[in-house]
Parts: sequence; structure tokens; C-alpha cells
Amino acid sequence: MKLILELSGEHPTLPRAEVIACLESGFKKFRIIDEGERILVVDVKNNVSKLSCLSLSHYVDEFLFSCSAEKLFDYAKTIRVDGTFKVKVKHIGEKKPSNLERKIGDLIHGKVDLKNPENEIRIIVSERCFVGKKILRIDRKQFESRKPQFRPFFSPVSLHPRLARAIVNLSRIKQNQILFDPFCGTGGILIEAGLIGAKTVGSDIDEKMVKGCEENLKFFGIKNYTLFQSDVGDVSVKCDAIVTDPPYGRSASTKKENIGKLYERAFEAFRKTLKKDGRLVIALPDKGFMELGKNYLNLLGAYPVMVHRSLTRYFCVYRK
Ligand SMILES: C[S@@+](CC[C@H](N)C(=O)[O-])C[C@H]1O[C@@H](n2cnc3c(N)ncnc32)[C@H](O)[C@@H]1O
Repeated sequence: MKLILELSGEHPTLPRAEVIACLESGFKKFRIIDEGERILVVDVKNNVSKLSCLSLSHYVDEFLFSCSAEKLFDYAKTIRVDGTFKVKVKHIGEKKPSNLERKIGDLIHGKVDLKNPENEIRIIVSERCFVGKKILRIDRKQFESRKPQFRPFFSPVSLHPRLARAIVNLSRIKQNQILFDPFCGTGGILIEAGLIGAKTVGSDIDEKMVKGCEENLKFFGIKNYTLFQSDVGDVSVKCDAIVTDPPYGRSASTKKENIGKLYERAFEAFRKTLKKDGRLVIALPDKGFMELGKNYLNLLGAYPVMVHRSLTRYFCVYRK
């Protein structure tokens, strides 16, 4: 089945990388057949619902066609819809005022129902037009409801849940595989991993964090977890993936340890605990640490994310 994935514009490269990671972990076979600005067209074999775990995309549609803006009306005449439908137009980039929805709706063979349609025909207008039938809308509101301030145990150091889910997805973790966060803090990463069916293991040097993390996991109904107090250098969990957000030398504590030393010890531990081919996805404070990691594991990708004006963190994917 050919699908259109509409990516969010919140980062130039992460949304695409997240989709590719989900396709690699969830689908035996897939092929990218076309791309546009914030658009991926892919051919997949299995159940599309697996893509509902994405966090940095908006929609998954069944691909109908793509064409230039000039050809849109001609192509629209060929669409036949079983049951009622409505048309939705999304402009990527500059929005051109037009009553395109109405005009296209008039050309499609089928019955329009604007209130309660059985089908939604989606037209994404970018440098070309991509036209599809909606299959699923990514539930992005759910991530807002899990923001740090809505958890029973709060600390401001936790990542936004949407970003936490994206980095969990980048690790290519599958259901029932073990995902380990050795700097688990309040559990932001483990919550997202648990919600998509991974077995979660977390540790932190601070006992208070371990207790708080457990409280948070329980609050979100995560049952499959193991938590313990440990310095990162002492961990020996055999795991399929490590996804982690270590202290970055600012508000989060390093227990007075030099940050360079801490990262050396951490990378050494990750190399030992990761299974062969397993991924490490880690938030790093700067490019120097990215290079350091290469002494231990193979760097596959790096995604700088501006956390606020004076702090950019590098989300890096390594493979053992
Ligand atoms: C940036 S926070 C992690 C935030 C976490 N992702 C969350 O959702 O809350 C870093 C964590 O690393 C822990 N930490 C600091 N030094 C450590 C060490 N040597 N070994 C293990 N954990 C350590 C801190 O206690 C803190 O909870």
C-alpha cells in the first residue's frame, strides 16, 4: 500500500528520521517512492496502524496521486470515493487564498458531507500537490497531557514528551524488547517507551529520582518496568537499546563530577551493556561529546535541537 506521511515542520531532519526508524523497526519491507517538502511517500506491506506511535508527523494518508498545481483539477476528476467525503487542503509554506476545497469537492465522484464524512480527501499543496485519503491522524495532543508539570513527580530537567517519544522511536525498539535509560530522572523517556510496548529498565544515581520515576510510570499505567539506583559506571543491563538524556552540565546535577569524565564512563558502560547492533540514542551537550562517542560506538546520525536560545543539544544515534 502506498502512503503519504505528512511530517511536522518543527525540525528540519528529525521528523523524517523518526519515520524511517519506525518503518525499519515495524515493517519487513518498505520503499520510499517520492518525497516533497515535509512529505514522504512510501510503499509498505504490513499494518499501517504501527505508524500511530510517531510523534513528529501529522497524518498518514493512502496515496492517490501527486501532480503539479496546474494539473490538480484534471487529476481530481479521476477520484472516486465510496461513501461520503470532505476535502481538506493543507498549504505547506505560503498559504494561497482560494476556495480549493469546494472546487475539488465538486470534481470528485461521490457525495459530499462536511459534518460527518466517511472519508477525508487530503490535498497537501507544497512545491507539488500530494493527494491522499486519510488513514490516521497522529494524536499529538496526548504528548501535551504528559508534560513534566502534569506528572506526580516533577523536575524541570525532563524533555518534552514529543521529543522523548521521537528519540525512543529513533532507537528502533520493538514491542517486548528491553529499552534502558541509565540517567532516568523522572522517567520521561521510559514513559514513552513503555506506552509503545517496550520493556523498560531505568536507573539513576539519585534514589529520590528512582522513587519519583516509579511514581510517574505507575501514574501512566506502565507495568513492565525495572528500576534501580546506580551510578552509570556500574550498570550491567543487557539491553536492545539505550535512550538517555544525561546531565548536560547546567541545571541537571553531575554530583560534582567533571562532565567529560562522566561521559567517558557512560560511553564505556553503554558499549558493554548494549547488544550487538543495538542503538544508543543520547542527548549530548556539544559536538565534542559527539566525537567522544565515536571512540566507543558507530555514529549514525546527529540532530541538533535548540532547547532554548542559549542551549542546543545534539541528539545522536550510535550503533554498537
Ligand atoms: C537530565 S536528567 C534526566 C532527565 C530525564 N530524562 C527525565 O525525564 O526526567 C539527568 C539525570 O542523571 C542523573 N545522574 C547524574 N549523574 C549520574 C551518574 N553518575 N550516574 C547515573 N545517573 C546520574 C541525575 O540524577 C538526573 O536525574
